[in-house]
Amino acid sequence: MKRLLRDGRHRLALASVTSVLVAAGVALIAPGLAQAADTLGAAAAQSGRYFGTAIAGGRLNDGAYTTIAAREFNMVTAENEMKPDATEPNQNQFNFSAGDQIYNWATSHGMKVRGHTLAWHGQQPGWMQQLSGSALRSAMINHINGVMGHYKGKLTAWDVVNEAYNEDGSRRQSNLQGTGNDWIEVAFRTARAADPSVRLCYNDYNIENWNYAKTQAVYNMVKDFKSRGVPIDCVGFQTHFTGGSSLPSTFQQTLSSFAALGVDVALTEVDVTNASTTQYAGLTQACMNVSRCIGITVWGVRDSDSWRSSENPLLFAGGGNKKPACTSVLNALNAATPTPTGPTPTGSTSTSPTPTPPGGANEIRGTQSGRCIDVPNASQNNGTRVQLYDCNRQSNQQ
Ligand code: G3I
Repeated sequence: MKRLLRDGRHRLALASVTSVLVAAGVALIAPGLAQAADTLGAAAAQSGRYFGTAIAGGRLNDGAYTTIAAREFNMVTAENEMKPDATEPNQNQFNFSAGDQIYNWATSHGMKVRGHTLAWHGQQPGWMQQLSGSALRSAMINHINGVMGHYKGKLTAWDVVNEAYNEDGSRRQSNLQGTGNDWIEVAFRTARAADPSVRLCYNDYNIENWNYAKTQAVYNMVKDFKSRGVPIDCVGFQTHFTGGSSLPSTFQQTLSSFAALGVDVALTEVDVTNASTTQYAGLTQACMNVSRCIGITVWGVRDSDSWRSSENPLLFAGGGNKKPACTSVLNALNAATPTPTGPTPTGSTSTSPTPTPPGGANEIRGTQSGRCIDVPNASQNNGTRVQLYDCNRQSNQQ
């Protein structure tokens, strides 16, 4: 499919595919059709990306909050409600009420949902904090199976492992690390088996600067996983440019270097001290310039919703007005190339703006169904009709 899109000799074939897709209710973005959009989600969608926010369940009864969130975003991450302390408060007793409330709100507003997070040293329930060794390893596996089983087929990605590294590039000495150095790959292998349809991400902060030990350590882990067949599909760069951090000049290089390993990249928890317009524009541009940067999520709606509200780090003021940083992000999103038009980028530092659609490398997903364009039985016969089918990452969907 990607070859069809990128090879002018197949324009006629693309035209007939397009008519089938339109009939099937699939939105395609054609070259040259981009218009300035005035909401973040619509602007990001022009280049096949999403723009998301963290949602706090406790604010869903705040009409001003939900109005902005529903208008502006098309991806949601539960800020706290899908974390281990929320989903398994007592061992082997799962509770999805808070997570489901956010999932249901998001999907009823046409948004997709990222899962956050399964294996993390933070926000563990008390019983988990007290476990160690093989008991904790078993509990981690059971937790992943329980939570992913509940959301099977429903989410676009899971942050399987969160924040496993120290600033110097060593492993964080958490109770999970104490179960053995292989705990991260066991988490990913467990996750793939639990729900083969969802993308599996490693997520961390302070990994945006390419010349930083922690960034290199995570890069080497992903490289190792890819070389050994450990399932990993994406890396989340939290992009907290708050609390003393700021946009590094190497961010785009970092994103493209990870992408060259064969994973999608995403900005997953963005906030910026005083919502610097130049930093917001720069981080957005870095994503737009990397084809496998599939979307951006800010860590809250209004400044007053932020975990660092004293830094006023978000795109909407407490009163609900769009801040200048929001305009700078919109401008960068609207300037992005609408569809892949050039050759597939190769090499480790490609920065050509050739976005892939959300859903993974080379897939085309229906915006309503979330399903993928699929060539039945991988047929190569002239006249074969393509269809919508559950996404499976196989070659007949690329
Ligand atoms: O819900 C309780 C409330 O009942 C209680 O009265 C109150 C008193 O402290 O605490 C409330 O829980 C707080 C929770 O947020 C909900 O507001 C917790 O104390 C507080 O620790 C928790 O903070 C969250 C933090 O993760 C904890 O690690 C933030 O909301 C959340 O934004 C933040 O998100 C993390 C990402 O998951 C991972 N990356 C970093 C990011 C920022 O720290």
